Amino acid sequence: MRQMSLVAFLQAQNCTTLPSSWRHPEARIDTYSPDYYQHIARVLEEGKFDIGFFDDRLAMPDMYAGDHSETVKNGIRCTKLDAVTCLMTMAAVTNYLGLGATYSTTYYEPFHVARLFQTLDLMTKGRAAWNVVTSVNDNEAKNMGRESHTDHDLRYDRADEFLEAVLGHWDSWDDDAIVVDKANNLYAHPDKVRRLDYKGKYLSSRGPFTVPRTPQGHPVVIQAGGSPRGKQFASRWGELIFAGYRNLEVGKTEYASLKAAAAAAGRDPEHMKIASLMYPIAAETKSEAEDKRAAYELLSNDMDQLLLLSEALNFDFAQKGLDEEFTDDEIEGLQGMQAMRDRVISTGIKNPTPRDFMRITRRGLLSDGHTMVGGPKEIADEMEEWFHGRACDGFVVGPTHQPGAFEDFVKYVVPELQKRGVYRKEYTGSTLRDHLGLERAEIGSWKTTFDSIEGF
Ligand SMILES: Cc1cc2nc3c(=O)[nH]c(=O)nc-3n(C[C@H](O)[C@H](O)[C@H](O)COP(=O)(O)O)c2cc1C
Repeated sequence: MRQMSLVAFLQAQNCTTLPSSWRHPEARIDTYSPDYYQHIARVLEEGKFDIGFFDDRLAMPDMYAGDHSETVKNGIRCTKLDAVTCLMTMAAVTNYLGLGATYSTTYYEPFHVARLFQTLDLMTKGRAAWNVVTSVNDNEAKNMGRESHTDHDLRYDRADEFLEAVLGHWDSWDDDAIVVDKANNLYAHPDKVRRLDYKGKYLSSRGPFTVPRTPQGHPVVIQAGGSPRGKQFASRWGELIFAGYRNLEVGKTEYASLKAAAAAAGRDPEHMKIASLMYPIAAETKSEAEDKRAAYELLSNDMDQLLLLSEALNFDFAQKGLDEEFTDDEIEGLQGMQAMRDRVISTGIKNPTPRDFMRITRRGLLSDGHTMVGGPKEIADEMEEWFHGRACDGFVVGPTHQPGAFEDFVKYVVPELQKRGVYRKEYTGSTLRDHLGLERAEIGSWKTTFDSIEGF
């Protein structure tokens, strides 16, 4: 039977994507210790998750009123540790769990990112993944030596080149290049190591690359573009896609369209797995889960949302009254996560107010997605409906609070999925590609017949 993938949505910060989560009575507060991440890693491996991945942002969400005081006071993602470093502590206490981190194509160099993730892949024996993002706002630009963030579509054009350079570097060493023949003084075959000499419109990188191939060939490429240009990019490069489908019908349509786009790009759509974001609130019974949900909803305040909207949409919401409409030009000018802006517009409100944004992107959850509340049966039923209905190949599991939400999910939902035969009882391979049902990355396998993809 087709098997579901599970991805844990992790944050190396003081809260989860639910920004008020640090106020939850059961949220652990030792965020700055390895014990915290190692505990989460053990829970996820016990639940046989495919992968845990850290999101990232290169700035504090301090866009609101041009100052960080509300951000720090309300604890809205005011800390953010380096994800790959945290992953290494998790790698040390696990053997199977895939480990992913988010890195931006806008603010790093391809050689650096290629080396970092290929090394992570070697040090985890083939369990690494890179979540490719183009970043979101001007604050990130300012931290990284620029004045303002690159325009939306242009940063995807640059990201296309970035991927060509990274994947090119990852292909620089043949699998059998290294021989370490001490007697004959041959460390590696010179003809099996190539120089990339990449020169694009925006980026260049010479090589030769300095990290050899890994057990799974190279790290898995994750992508989550949500705009038309973002989806085009995802269908070209993404091996694991994160989506935020807000309901089953949207999921079915978008899933089919993205798979078709991958096929049009010359790829096998089965080698692109789509995981949709869900926020489970799991308990032994449905009524206990409902009580938990009610308690979460009390944690959030208006300021949490205004701070996060400002960050995600790259616009200072303090400039507007709560009931003051955005002008057409302001709406057009929102250059952050366009998918979030479009979700608000798609409800039919032409000139939304901040209060409309807050209501429609409610729950304080920054990313779109779908909340599933219930006991084992209710949540497993809903997940199966999405999975068998081809709205996804698996789920990105977003925690309401850490680590408790993962503990509940592993305790209540995972055994039910296993009983139904849709989810593994044991790992059957050791690399992340094995877990995801992806083939080993052979040299050149990422090169597709991609030209231009229409249809979004
Ligand atoms: C599950 C999930 C995780 C994401 N993680 C990040 C992240 O860590 N950093 C980031 O800048 N964007 C992240 N994004 C946002 C996407 O990369 C993308 O910017 C967003 O979906 C909007 O699409 P667009 O860039 O095509 O407008 C995430 C999206 C999803 C659905």
